[in-house]
Amino acid sequence: MDAAADGPRRYLVRTFGCQMNENDSERISGLLEADGLTPATSEDDADVIVLNTCCIRENADNRLYGTLGHLKSRKDARPDLQIVVGGCLAQKDRDQVRARAPYVDVVLGTHNVHRAAELVAQARAGGPITEILDAAVADDATMFPSALATRSGPGHTAWVTIQIGCDNSCAFCIVPAVRGPEISRPFDALVAEVEALAADGVTEVTLLGQNVNSYGRDLTLAARRAGDDVRVRPLFADLLRATGAVDGIRRVRYTSPHPKDLRPETIAAMAEVPEVCSHLHLPLQSGSDRVLAAMHRGYTAERYLERLAAARAEIDDLAVTTDIIVGFPGETEEDFARTLEVAAEAAYDSAYTFVYSPRPGTEAAEMADQEVPAEVVAERFDRLKVVVERTAVAAHRARVGRVEEVAVEGPSRKDPSVLTGRTAQNKLVHFPSPTPLRAGTYAQVRVTDAAAHHLRGELVDVVAPARHRTRIPVAAV
Ligand code: SAH
Ligand code: SF4
Ligand code: F3S
Repeated sequence: MDAAADGPRRYLVRTFGCQMNENDSERISGLLEADGLTPATSEDDADVIVLNTCCIRENADNRLYGTLGHLKSRKDARPDLQIVVGGCLAQKDRDQVRARAPYVDVVLGTHNVHRAAELVAQARAGGPITEILDAAVADDATMFPSALATRSGPGHTAWVTIQIGCDNSCAFCIVPAVRGPEISRPFDALVAEVEALAADGVTEVTLLGQNVNSYGRDLTLAARRAGDDVRVRPLFADLLRATGAVDGIRRVRYTSPHPKDLRPETIAAMAEVPEVCSHLHLPLQSGSDRVLAAMHRGYTAERYLERLAAARAEIDDLAVTTDIIVGFPGETEEDFARTLEVAAEAAYDSAYTFVYSPRPGTEAAEMADQEVPAEVVAERFDRLKVVVERTAVAAHRARVGRVEEVAVEGPSRKDPSVLTGRTAQNKLVHFPSPTPLRAGTYAQVRVTDAAAHHLRGELVDVVAPARHRTRIPVAAV
């Protein structure tokens, strides 16, 4: 039976990947809504289920095929259910997805997200479709045909993809192979997009790219090739300033800068523009120069720490987070000891730590003979966690007693009488409120307690009520 027989068809998007993947999920949701679909509350009442995949690590594949297996029984019971597989794994393994799950209705690449709604409609009428645009031939105009952001619903935060793809070649990373070369979206279009979002009630934007500091390099080169006399400008810093200046925008975040390209102009923009949040996510990957060289990261541990110190010296109250990979092929105990030292010295507020996962097609996947035994990796992983938690707890304890501005996200999942929000440093804060405050409200909260991954506090004052309607969330897994 078609769950839509008595009303508009309903969709559900499940996001498996990074913030860019999440942004694509929002665009897919927005396009489906523009086509008349409405959000489903669960898989039970969904007529279209979109799996927006990721392939950064191996377990991402396993999760997708596990989920597809379970969706097959749903589809057997309800043949009208449409299953869409999009995202990086679809881009990379289109044939495998089709072969392993022939019942999938639409396989959609990362560079034709804008076609999502049309493909769903076409597949409904004419049967399964696979459409993957080659990353090497995609451009901004094809991928973002509308000048305005497509959103799935109102809310106080929004992602803005400023750059597609990556021109680096980190030995472990599959992203350049699936997301293609770096393409910067036009500066004016991005500012216009942020203005439109602000007019829609958004107060916080996160600028997204794999290497945001090189934003605009391709635009400058293209302008030069066209004969324009343009000077090379640190366009990313300009973009931070321009988006921070948009009326109604209270917070600008971005992710990720590459340590080798973190420029003084970016640090200056962070220091000088009050809207740009005092949070730097600076992926370290390893503290060993030998491993960093094998990874082709383009910096040494010393250089990394110098840049971090420069950022801390200029930006008031800077929170620093990172990504670290444990068990890169050939990582010795000595290499890992350097990672622990650098992590301790960097004094991170938090870190995403990953067990190295070989990705076929990457340079590191050819180094299987240097694989670090799983039990050694597991033990190192735990030791790294201890070091990071130590600095995280210390950084959080130092905040106790301070009054911080918190953007309310909603009731806490564990205790609905407690609200959850985020500070400019991206710290999660739980605090009771005598009156319910809507998501998007900015409040002053005094920090009373600190743990490794969150703060607790008490409400002092409401500084700005929410400006938007309540957002319908995109389901994430
Ligand atoms: N462009 C960003 C990272 C994108 S991928 C940057 O350069 O910082 C997000 C994180 O996933 C990486 O920082 C890395 O820590 C991790 N990662 C990427 N490939 C991986 C792999 N093969 N195994 C384990 N972790 C990986
Ligand atoms: Fe991957 Fe490196 Fe590009 Fe980041 S900078 S996406 S880790 S290749
Ligand atoms: Fe995953 Fe693709 Fe992001 S591989 S991490 S969803 S760019």
